[in-house]
Amino acid sequence: MKASDTSEDIATSHLPEENQIKPFDVAAVRADFPILHQKINGKSLVYLDNAATTQKPQSVLDVLHHYYSLDNANVHRGAHQLSDRATESFENARRKVQRFLNAAKPQEIIWSKGTTESINMVAHCYGKSVLTAGDEVIVSAMEHHSNIVPWQMVCEQTGAHLKVIPVNADGELQFDEYVSLLNERTKIVSVVHVSNALGSVNPIKAIAEKAHEVGAKVVVDGAQAVAHWNVDVQDLDCDFYAFSGHKLFAPTGIGVLYGKQELLEAMPPYQGGGEMIEKVSFAGTTYNELPYKFEAGTPHIAGAIGLGAAIDYLDSLDRQAMASHEADLLSRAQALAASCDGIELVGVAKDKVSVMSFLLEGAHPQDVGMLLDQQGIAVRTGHHCAMPIMEQYKIPGTVRASFTFYNTLEEVEALFTGIEKVKTFL
Ligand code: ALA
Repeated sequence: MKASDTSEDIATSHLPEENQIKPFDVAAVRADFPILHQKINGKSLVYLDNAATTQKPQSVLDVLHHYYSLDNANVHRGAHQLSDRATESFENARRKVQRFLNAAKPQEIIWSKGTTESINMVAHCYGKSVLTAGDEVIVSAMEHHSNIVPWQMVCEQTGAHLKVIPVNADGELQFDEYVSLLNERTKIVSVVHVSNALGSVNPIKAIAEKAHEVGAKVVVDGAQAVAHWNVDVQDLDCDFYAFSGHKLFAPTGIGVLYGKQELLEAMPPYQGGGEMIEKVSFAGTTYNELPYKFEAGTPHIAGAIGLGAAIDYLDSLDRQAMASHEADLLSRAQALAASCDGIELVGVAKDKVSVMSFLLEGAHPQDVGMLLDQQGIAVRTGHHCAMPIMEQYKIPGTVRASFTFYNTLEEVEALFTGIEKVKTFL
């Protein structure tokens, strides 16, 4: 079935041409991802683990090859052409991220290892400098461990308290209860934009508006959001936004912390070393300007350049058509799940991305994952680094199929054919 045969197209076909969502050419984009075209256990790979990490288009692979073949050098330091070229590509990538997030300035884009390091940077630099005993930090019950543990550590060190926004049985953040948690002691609200375990989308703009009314700052874990739509940090009015390159079709080991300039200026550095200083002497050291103050040591230069190339790649696609295709993938999966005996969906929020977490009656998620793998179908199983929400639902974990724009409706169907087969094994 072609992507153009979807119900979305039928539903919008009465609209004037300029308002119609153009069909997404999934076959063309799949040709850009060499890894997808291989056999696993003799079967065509069906890669449905995109929330764990996304695959890389050829253009990103080419940029990495080009960088290491022709330009490899350290940045900001050399007096030679390779260093100039590396620095130019590296800083160009920062400007691409700035535009991608609609940040006001490139100085507000800090390179990190990934979302985890970005959140740790905020917790340890901003959190530790503003929190005092009795202050409060708010997170939600659906957070990834990387947006829980750093705050627990900082609360322990400062005497602040961690408060938790409840999440309902469908996987939706309880907004009214969030508002009732806010008070003059709330200093930081740190929430996930899209839950990795459930796929739920949180209303960040409204969350930020309420937090700002009590003077709290808002940190957003955007790891699972950026692959699905263009985030606008100025529109969201969040104070910090974190994401990882590898979940955005770029290499592992590179990530981003966006922060409002005045907050980054006021924060102490994260690590000491080269690059983050202005002048070092035994009488005292002064720090470099933004963004370098937070970038001690040689950065992941190729990773940053690869991330820039991934953003270029996404810019070359029609993101509205892409989102519509992903919505089709999710609705097909949900429809097939509804008619599949023994499947229980975990996380059915009204607003969610193309992530389907589920349980298969009588089967441990790990066994389901293993039996699907035997059929060439890659999913993730377990608690997805979100143990508190699993504990709330009284389950050890789920099987999670996470779809992205290069997945096809046939792959969704293959998942369910695979599940039927799993049932016969169990
Ligand atoms: N946080 C990643 C996931 O959800 C690894 O799979």
